[in-house]
Amino acid sequence: MTTQMRRHDSRLWAGCRFGALVLILALPLAAKDSCLECHKGLEGNLQKPALAFQDDIHAHFGFSCADCHGGDRNSNDMEESMNRARGFTGKIARGAVPKLCARCHSDATLIHKFKPQQRVDQLAQYQTSVHGKRLAAGDTAVANCVDCHSVHNIREVKNALSPVHPLRLPETCARCHADAKHMAKYKIETNQFAQYRGSVHWEALSKRGDLSAPSCASCHGNHGATPPQVASVASVCGTCHVLFEDLYSKSPHKPVFDSMGAAGCVVCHGNHGISKPSSAMLVGAKAVCAQCHDATSAGGAAAAEMGALIAKLDAALNRSDAVLAQAQNSGMEVSEPVLQQIEGRENLIKARVAVHAFQTAAVNKPVQDGLAIAAGTRKAGEDALQERDWRRAGLGVSLITIVITLLGLWLAIRLLEARPRREPSDGRSDAV
Ligand code: HEC
Ligand code: HEC
Ligand code: HEC
Ligand code: HEC
Ligand code: HEC
Ligand code: HEC
Ligand code: HEC
Ligand code: HEC
Ligand code: HEC
Repeated sequence: MTTQMRRHDSRLWAGCRFGALVLILALPLAAKDSCLECHKGLEGNLQKPALAFQDDIHAHFGFSCADCHGGDRNSNDMEESMNRARGFTGKIARGAVPKLCARCHSDATLIHKFKPQQRVDQLAQYQTSVHGKRLAAGDTAVANCVDCHSVHNIREVKNALSPVHPLRLPETCARCHADAKHMAKYKIETNQFAQYRGSVHWEALSKRGDLSAPSCASCHGNHGATPPQVASVASVCGTCHVLFEDLYSKSPHKPVFDSMGAAGCVVCHGNHGISKPSSAMLVGAKAVCAQCHDATSAGGAAAAEMGALIAKLDAALNRSDAVLAQAQNSGMEVSEPVLQQIEGRENLIKARVAVHAFQTAAVNKPVQDGLAIAAGTRKAGEDALQERDWRRAGLGVSLITIVITLLGLWLAIRLLEARPRREPSDGRSDAV
């Protein structure tokens, strides 16, 4: 032993004796946990776990350091409590973590005492993931349980501070997946996080608090983290976008995309950086259809027709909106056609969904329904504006009549006043 280590040890001993004193004083108040008490009085990486542990769900349920690290929590003696003969394991190697956690988490009897409905298949699932398979093969750069859940301050997964909460998970995965150095030896991109943060899904989740929008694990699974199989990507999206998957799976694309090994929705929408769709995906320079269909093919023609139909309905609804807004601003009663516009917009949404049948006729139906509504609401708006004009004209006529009457009255009064007055005959002055 070097002198430096001995000095270090004696300092630690002083700390531990103090810890033991605190412990003895605290004995009547709390269940004894020598590991926690002694480590609270240490420094650096030996102290941190003890301080963090107050936020840990395992601490809340009465577990101790010794439940993971082994040893004897009842002994205040350092040698005794951290004795390998008493099962003390010391620092836990990365490769050994999943089995350690699973000692309890795969034990239904134990877990269900605390949470009767809780799953106990985390290890089994984990072993099917790319992470689990690589770890089993000796690659410790992959995620193990504590990379996702943290360690010593493990929180309930529903807690907003948990690193696996949907709003925090992207950053948790990004610690490795956006770190080019960490991922250098693998042949995969490190852009998933950046792309996802620009997506409609992250926007719905983070800006609108819509917890039904997917975070990383909604598509990849919590523990069975593999990229969705090519053939199942349409079903991953379809777990939430049911109508779209229904139409797509009956469309002419489903069998051809499957046989090309192309991944359903992802072919047109991408996977991580999904942006807000528009008709620019059908026609124009950014059309996705043009990747595979030239303008003269059946597919190209259908794309142009669907794009034109949707654009026509959109424009018609916008025109009606403008007319109705003008009428409303003029104080006209148009609440009924304004309500009908909502129905018209629903047809526009239906048309955009119907695109996924990839047949013009399917889009045509809601477009025609919507156009009929738009024509009606526009007429109602124009009628209201016409009535407004009539009323204005009527108001103008009555104003002019009033002005003329007033003028007449004024003239009459002037005439009366201008008539010469008779001089008073008694010679008294006018001033009274
Ligand atoms: C009286 C004080 C004291 C008690 C009690 C104590 N420890 Fe420690 N522990 C230390 C000190 C000092 C070190 C650093 C020196 C060493 O590694 O031996 C340490 C180191 C550790 C380490 C890190 C080992 C490594 O290889 O890096 C772990 C893990 C640990 N203790 C867990 C526990 C657990 C679990 C218990 C209870 C069963 C416990 N300790 C009880 C003082 C204590
Ligand atoms: C739920 C299981 C669990 C509990 C409970 C637990 N630990 Fe740990 N601890 C671990 C794991 C796993 C690691 C390895 C972490 C890693 O690989 O980064 C670890 C690492 C450590 C280390 C090494 C830290 C380092 O950076 O070198 C110390 C010291 C330690 N724990 C002490 C404690 C103390 C003290 C307690 C009680 C206050 C405790 N642990 C409670 C699982 C646990
Ligand atoms: C790749 C990240 C990741 C890894 C690795 C991981 N988990 Fe999880 N874990 C999650 C996510 C995400 C959730 C679900 C969060 C939610 O429901 O919002 C979760 C949920 C849990 C839950 C709550 C019950 C459940 O199954 O939903 C437990 C318990 C759990 N994990 C334990 C473990 C254990 C034990 C391991 C190691 C064998 C592990 N986790 C490995 C990300 C991970
Ligand atoms: C000594 C048994 C034991 C060990 C070892 C253990 N846990 Fe737990 N853990 C529990 C119990 C019991 C619960 C409470 C029941 C529950 O919430 O699932 C729990 C809860 C959890 C939760 C909260 C789940 C929820 O309800 O949201 C997570 C996450 C978790 N543990 C992760 C881990 C990880 C990661 C490890 C390994 C580093 C680990 N546990 C080791 C017993 C243990
Ligand atoms: C501790 C670092 C780390 C964390 C945290 C992590 N991963 Fe990984 N992940 C890896 C490594 C390393 C690989 C192996 C890459 C390979 O084999 O191509 C991998 C592989 C994957 C793969 C398979 C990629 C492929 O095509 O082979 C997916 C999918 C994945 N991770 C998703 C996630 C998700 C989702 C999260 C967060 C819930 C996450 N990972 C958290 C390190 C991590
Ligand atoms: C909307 C669903 C969805 C979400 C959300 C999602 N992914 Fe993916 N991810 C996929 C699909 C689908 C693939 C497979 C790509 C393919 O086959 O074209 C994939 C592939 C991957 C891969 C393999 C390498 C690659 O880029 O192809 C990794 C790693 C990955 N995702 C990590 C993440 C991380 C980290 C997050 C969160 C920041 C995340 N994913 C969010 C659907 C999703
Ligand atoms: C966990 C559920 C879920 C999964 C899985 C999912 N999404 Fe979403 N998606 C949503 C939610 C919620 C929104 C936001 C809805 C909104 O804006 O009205 C959304 C929005 C979208 C939008 C934008 C819609 C719009 O009108 O702006 C597109 C496009 C989209 N998702 C495509 C996909 C694709 C492609 C996949 C598969 C790779 C997928 N989604 C997987 C839930 C999901
Ligand atoms: C062959 C290309 C293609 C495929 C495959 C595809 N989409 Fe689309 N998707 C489009 C186009 C084009 C639009 C935009 C229509 C418009 O706004 O005019 C769109 C729009 C959407 C919208 C937004 C609808 C709205 O209300 O604005 C969602 C959500 C969506 N798609 C989800 C999916 C899902 C889920 C799948 C897989 C089941 C899928 N898409 C497959 C081309 C495709
Ligand atoms: C990845 C390539 C690819 C993309 C992108 C794609 N298609 Fe297709 N599409 C095909 C293939 C292959 C077929 C089947 C062979 C054929 O009939 O040309 C097909 C068939 C069709 C058909 C049926 C044609 C017929 O002969 O009955 C229509 C309609 C169609 N696509 C429309 C579209 C529209 C609209 C888009 C854009 C939203 C689009 N496709 C995007 C590859 C693609």
